[in-house]
Amino acid sequence: MSGTPSLKALGLKIVAVANQKGGVGKTTTVATLASGLARSGQKVLLVDGDPQGNLSLLFGATGKHPELGDILETLGSRADGAGSENGERGRRGHRALMDACIVKRVRRSLDIVPLSRRHLRTELGDALIERAEKPFAGVMESLKASYDWILLDTSPSNGSLERVLVAASEAVVVPLEFQVFSLSGLEAILADIEECGRRAERSIRPHALVFTKAENGSARVDAYRNLFASFRIPIFEVCKSEYVPRSMERGRTLWEAAPASLVAKDYRTIIEKSFLG
Ligand SMILES: Nc1ncnc2c1ncn2[C@@H]1O[C@H](COP(=O)(O)OP(=O)(O)OP(=O)(O)O)[C@@H](O)[C@H]1O
Ligand SMILES: [Mg+2]
Repeated sequence: MSGTPSLKALGLKIVAVANQKGGVGKTTTVATLASGLARSGQKVLLVDGDPQGNLSLLFGATGKHPELGDILETLGSRADGAGSENGERGRRGHRALMDACIVKRVRRSLDIVPLSRRHLRTELGDALIERAEKPFAGVMESLKASYDWILLDTSPSNGSLERVLVAASEAVVVPLEFQVFSLSGLEAILADIEECGRRAERSIRPHALVFTKAENGSARVDAYRNLFASFRIPIFEVCKSEYVPRSMERGRTLWEAAPASLVAKDYRTIIEKSFLG
């Protein structure tokens, strides 16, 4: 699918990395893309949207307060669902709250909003998280003036928290594995993205499929490649590599631990083609 415009060409800069399936490489992908963009001189904000807090852990930003859970709690409890907090004063207040959550310069040119509140969903409840949806999207929109890119990690679920994060995004990157269940999973994700777009009253672009842990030379993989091509969303592959778990375990990004590896090259291709164009 050559000739597909990059996010930069489309003017889209808030990108969620999402798949309700666990362990498909969401956190690896969002961390590697964000740190890769930052290394190329772009100003990047990462938002950890997964209560497991893996991304925050990787960048040494756990246990910081306030964090994403706090802002969602405040936004959700202040909003009455009818948007009474949406005036200019409300918006400025929300932005100040968000600014207080940002941990600056976890790497050069890279900031992060951490999350490490494991029981966030039960503590806040769906109704409150849902009320945070519109004000949170407003805060994210206001951050666009301060960053070249805003990338959000999400958790392996499709509840209210994921809807809030996707509804605040302009595009979604979906990491997947080559296997038969990924097909129905992808259909469900695309339906969720469309539904979030309807709620946000704008379209949210399913921008790229990233097949992580790809192993070449298998006829089975070729068959899957053809099957997924029918979705008409650009497909990228990231090879399976021991460098990924090894570097993450040491709290290092792929660019720090193995910049010359094939897996780093695969992620560089995504950055160049799909983001910067
Ligand atoms: N290209 C790769 N090669 C080898 N291992 C990989 C690759 N990408 C990810 N992994 C490994 O797969 C596991 C899951 O990756 P990751 O945590 O990024 O997935 P996730 O989708 O964020 O998981 P969760 O759904 O739990 O949030 C990790 O152990 C990670 O190191
Ligand atoms: Mg994860």
